[in-house]
Amino acid sequence: TGHTALDYGFVNTSATKSAITYIDGDAGILRYRGYPIEQLAKNSSYLEVAWLLLYGELPSAGELTDFDERIRRHTLLHEDLKRFFSALPHTAHPMSVLSSAVSALSTYYEHQSDPHNPEHVELNNIRMLAKLPVIAAYAHKKSVGQAFLYPDNSLSFVDNFLKLNFGVLSEEYQVSPVMSRALERLLILHEDHEQNASTSTVRLVGSTGANQFSSISAGINALYGPLHGGANEAVLAMLARIRDSGESVQRFVERVKNKEDGVKLMGFGHRVYKNYDPRAKLVKESADEVLTELGIQDPLLDLAKQLEEIALGDDYFMERKLYPNVDFYTGVIYKAMGFPTRMFTVLFAIGRLPGWLAQWREAVNDPQTKIGRPQQLYIGAAERNYPGAQ
Ligand code: CMC
Repeated sequence: TGHTALDYGFVNTSATKSAITYIDGDAGILRYRGYPIEQLAKNSSYLEVAWLLLYGELPSAGELTDFDERIRRHTLLHEDLKRFFSALPHTAHPMSVLSSAVSALSTYYEHQSDPHNPEHVELNNIRMLAKLPVIAAYAHKKSVGQAFLYPDNSLSFVDNFLKLNFGVLSEEYQVSPVMSRALERLLILHEDHEQNASTSTVRLVGSTGANQFSSISAGINALYGPLHGGANEAVLAMLARIRDSGESVQRFVERVKNKEDGVKLMGFGHRVYKNYDPRAKLVKESADEVLTELGIQDPLLDLAKQLEEIALGDDYFMERKLYPNVDFYTGVIYKAMGFPTRMFTVLFAIGRLPGWLAQWREAVNDPQTKIGRPQQLYIGAAERNYPGAQ
């Protein structure tokens, strides 16, 4: 076309209209379908917010119960799919296991995966919501060499997930209400975030006519990177490295400012929030509460707070409007719950799933959706002849 604007990273380009999530990055505001994130995190549940994102309104009590029951009926994985996990090494990163297993899930439901058949779409929303936590827990169990448990459908969504992760075959498992409520809150905070990299990936893949499983699997892979969902794992690795190296926090911050070896303050900065990330504020409060209630003292939390204080008092970070993002404090809570570091981004994926599904469906139902196909500015060689060719 010759007239396309160059916009690396889509900093200035809207690719869609959306009625799902509203963000005001300067004011630090996040709302799902108009409801402030602070109110949802405090009062709602993961499944209620999932319904809100998918259907636009809060469910009635009956609708929510029905939704919950339908999800409970779909938690089992086919035994063949369970064997799929044994083909992967126990050292595999759980995010790779997760995206692979979601791709594999597609092979079980190809006959019911028409993006334009609302019944198929609805059924696959339920299947994904029911099965992703089970796949995630099996990725965890595999990495620690323990047997997979069957889902216990007498338990709530979050409690079932905790039991699948931390229960063992031979023992009773008592869910800790503190952990359960804290995890529910964290999942709610992650449920949607408008057109971030993974959601845009889900929409782009969906725009080709691919089904939900293929689109979500692509989204999981996009989330895996350390600049996106992988940041929660990277934050904990960074904190542990500072602790183990004996380097002072001040010195580490200096290295970040000097961009030594490209080192960044992980869990800081955001494309959209140029003020405190409202999710980070809630996570920070939660971190204090959960660690106190579980009776855990983690020096990494103190280190994180020290890092935040130094960064927020420093011109480098203030001039660039770099504040803690959602990933800065989540890892400390996940660690207190007993999740290995490599599971952190998997937890983010479970949180984000409802948003991906809602955004995928919104795109598929929008008559203005076209196949996503960015332009480029060509800067390569002009036409030239292959040796010997005329
Ligand atoms: N540490 C140090 N400097 C930073 C950081 C950071 N975390 N983030 C941005 N900067 C600097 C950057 O070097 C640039 O400086 P200069 O103008 O001197 O070149 C300036 O701030 C502007 O940054 P940018 O890279 O143009 O910003 P972006 O909007 O392209 O990137 C980001 C956003 C989130 C990728 C980036 O801030 C980052 O890499 N943060 C660390 C990773 C992270 O925490 N990611 C999680 C994001 S929130 C939840 C999620 O999506 O998963």
